[in-house]
Amino acid sequence: MSSLVVAIDGTAGSGKSSTSRAVADRLGLRYLDTGAMYRAVTVRMLREGVDVDDPDAVADRAASVDVRVTTDPADPRVFLNGDDVSVEVRSDLVTAAVSAVSAVPAVRELLRRRQRDLIGAGGIVIEGRDIGTVVAPDAGLKIYLTADAEIRARRRAAEMATGQNREVGAVEAALIRRDVHDSTRPTAPLSAASDSVPVDTTYATLDEVVDEIVGLALDRVGVGADG
Ligand code: DC
Repeated sequence: MSSLVVAIDGTAGSGKSSTSRAVADRLGLRYLDTGAMYRAVTVRMLREGVDVDDPDAVADRAASVDVRVTTDPADPRVFLNGDDVSVEVRSDLVTAAVSAVSAVPAVRELLRRRQRDLIGAGGIVIEGRDIGTVVAPDAGLKIYLTADAEIRARRRAAEMATGQNREVGAVEAALIRRDVHDSTRPTAPLSAASDSVPVDTTYATLDEVVDEIVGLALDRVGVGADG
């Protein structure tokens, strides 16, 4: 188990973060949220007024961005040039801009290197869009999470802080827009690795999904679910 790499990819709002953190916690593994890293780079672009739809400007500025993360599933944090931006990365402005920033090859190359360093000798659950296909193609277990778009939007709307009342239809449209952007970009698009296990969370509870993935992980390392 100490060298296992579990790659969890999937669409926006499919439950990747809650699932991945819980799986890491149950298996005693580290946890890496690669989306938070792309979000931190996006914070930097927005702070500096870079036009995120100008790939050359984004690539140029990315060279001086230092993104660091901690990997404790109980309290994962992301730092941008030394500042803790764990809350800011979740803002609507960042969510709206992150797909454009993450499509820039120079940004992906920079973060991919850092992600591979963090994977190191393994013992980690890593979530994102291109983990099973590009970042960790040799991962011992690859999961591809999906859920019906309306259900994803309902869950996302319910999670949003009170006072941020959102119409489910608008949330659904934004999730679909991001999926289309993420899965049609030329570099490392969102796609299921051919050897991934598809897990549809539409009608499952978080506990059920976590149990399923933990069972698969134990099987992969040769430990039966009951022993
Ligand atoms: O998982 P998330 O919603 O925090 O991810 C934010 C964005 O970052 C997502 O829309 C696409 C990008 N991303 C990516 O391109 N590759 C990854 N491995 C993780 C995220």
